Amino acid sequence: MKKAMKAEMVVLDRGHLDPVSVRRAGKILLAGGLVAFPTETVYGLGGNALDPDASRRIYAAKGRPSDNPLIVHIADLEALPLLTREIPDAARKAAESFWPGPLTMILPKSDKVPYETTGGLDTVAVRMPSDPLALALIRAGGGYVAAPSANTSGRPSPTTASHVAEDLGDSIDMILDGGQVEIGLESTIVDFTVPVPTILRPGYYHPDRLAKVLGDVRIDPGLLSQDSGIRPKAPGMRYRHYAPKAELTIVEGRPENVTEAIRRLCEKAEKEGKKAGILASQENAGSYDRGVLKVVGSLAREETIARKLYEVLREFDETGVDVIYSEAFHTPQIGQAVMNRLLKAAGHRVMRV
Ligand code: TXA
Ligand code: MG
Repeated sequence: MKKAMKAEMVVLDRGHLDPVSVRRAGKILLAGGLVAFPTETVYGLGGNALDPDASRRIYAAKGRPSDNPLIVHIADLEALPLLTREIPDAARKAAESFWPGPLTMILPKSDKVPYETTGGLDTVAVRMPSDPLALALIRAGGGYVAAPSANTSGRPSPTTASHVAEDLGDSIDMILDGGQVEIGLESTIVDFTVPVPTILRPGYYHPDRLAKVLGDVRIDPGLLSQDSGIRPKAPGMRYRHYAPKAELTIVEGRPENVTEAIRRLCEKAEKEGKKAGILASQENAGSYDRGVLKVVGSLAREETIARKLYEVLREFDETGVDVIYSEAFHTPQIGQAVMNRLLKAAGHRVMRV
């Protein structure tokens, strides 16, 4: 049975934003309420970032640990100084080149940002999204919108309004439906509070592209290896995340070996009375003749894989599969970010063939 839905669903057209709906959504934010909205990366769950009660409500709605800080979304560069004690030169350069867009910057926080929003930290995460619908909502809502991904904590991030409704429909006030998001994976997070800008979460912007503008860029050592014992610096990267209900294993190797191994693994699972799922690229899909097959996208058009990954992980939950075998998707630009999310979803279970 479907749960009763509390949230009002408002469909908006990016080309012709209905000002009345946008204003109404903004008023909800100004009054301390919660509005989910699309960004170019994933849907966010918005609340007034300067209101500690709104941040508390966000944590409660998501079931999120309160030490995992929120990203503050702004719509104009002039909004930035209020949030930070200092804007390092590198951060200024990054803002010029990558905002509006899928980049989140970690900066020293000002007194205006409540600790409820930063999970107790003295730094604040800031992002200026490019989605016109998001920008309109941020402006209507007072200019500072705290927004984590609009999923229940631990589930894959939402890339459509119906994913948001599934997870949060009975605990928030409004959902702005702007259709499917463009990118499908969360923003690249870069820490500017250290001498060399450091990537805390891989995303759409590849490290090389950041380095072209910033010079030296590092990657948080806590991201690189699971068994190094180094904890990732972004609290959210320490949690198990994006996980489907079934046990997911990534099978890596030459394409012929991978498809052969996945076919055998499915056969074995079925003999044991288990229902098996396969997460495959368009290019290899024709090689499978058993199991519940989901095609995530094409290796030749890597953006299609990023866009569909979370949706496909959610779909597997509806099919009742017990195990999922996934190909690896090491594509040139966004492959790092895709594999980071997929490895987390798999609890780092990888089989090399
Ligand atoms: O693309 C995105 O960034 C989306 C859309 C809605 O903008 N938002 C998003 O938020 O992914 P969330 O809350 O799901 O992830 C925020 C991540 C978490 O891993 C959190 O730990 C990290 O950012 N973070 C936030 N503030 C931080 C800080 N001050 N220092 C280090 N990490 C921080
Ligand atoms: Mg999230």
